[in-house]
Amino acid sequence: MSDEPEFLISYQDSAGGVPVLLIHGFPLSSLLWEPQMAELADVSRLIAPDLRGHGNTSASPPPYTMEQLAIDCVNLLDDIGINRPFVVMGLSMGGYIAFEVFRQYPGMVAGLILAGTRAGADSEEGKKGRDAAAKLVREQGVSALVEQMLPKLMAPAVYQDNPELVEFVREMMLETSVEGAIGGLMAMRGRADSLPTLLDIDVPTLIIHGTDDQLIPTSEAEAMHQAIHDSRLVIIPEAGHLVNLEQPEAFNDAVRAFLETF
Ligand code: MLT
Repeated sequence: MSDEPEFLISYQDSAGGVPVLLIHGFPLSSLLWEPQMAELADVSRLIAPDLRGHGNTSASPPPYTMEQLAIDCVNLLDDIGINRPFVVMGLSMGGYIAFEVFRQYPGMVAGLILAGTRAGADSEEGKKGRDAAAKLVREQGVSALVEQMLPKLMAPAVYQDNPELVEFVREMMLETSVEGAIGGLMAMRGRADSLPTLLDIDVPTLIIHGTDDQLIPTSEAEAMHQAIHDSRLVIIPEAGHLVNLEQPEAFNDAVRAFLETF
């Protein structure tokens, strides 16, 4: 018996095709996947949860772990009757969770889409940054973290050229609860090193990265591509960390071509 409190997980679902679990990054929600929910529902069944404490999913007290977030996502699939292998698409922290799903549910992951993410764990300096960010949230609320992170989340040009997109992302981030933000930061801080996992990945994998990602360099995507046996790498120009939102057509073309092989 788990002593965890019961909570309801909010999610978006579409119809048809191989199931795809879409896991958003930090501190975002399933709204991140709006361009994919709109354009890819004919090729796959897309299930996009809000992680605990994010979007419309209730929070539990922090800290969270990647294991717990992975279990939340797969429990949701189970609850809605999906018991066949599925593709996992994760962006950034969603990618960290995707590695965890792959490790914890052998045989259930049919394919991986790793967008704007990296395999390594946090460095000591990175961990200090998580602690500082958690302190900021505790003392000044989520809006202070949003103002700190927002300028780095997309390609520099987006802030001049597409203020509507910047506002959309800001609003999405502000939906994160204090508990969810601290929980997510602690999950990222404590996450396992997934570099050894790369050599075990035996399912088709698509890696997508933006050339202008200010948070995770393209070299991380190239390194994952080198290490994962059956992987494709798509580098999308004029896209930052939120590559699927910033360049939805190029992103969707790559994902569609990949999903059509299932
Ligand atoms: C994310 O976009 O999910 C996070 O910013 C990733 C990270 O901080 O490592």
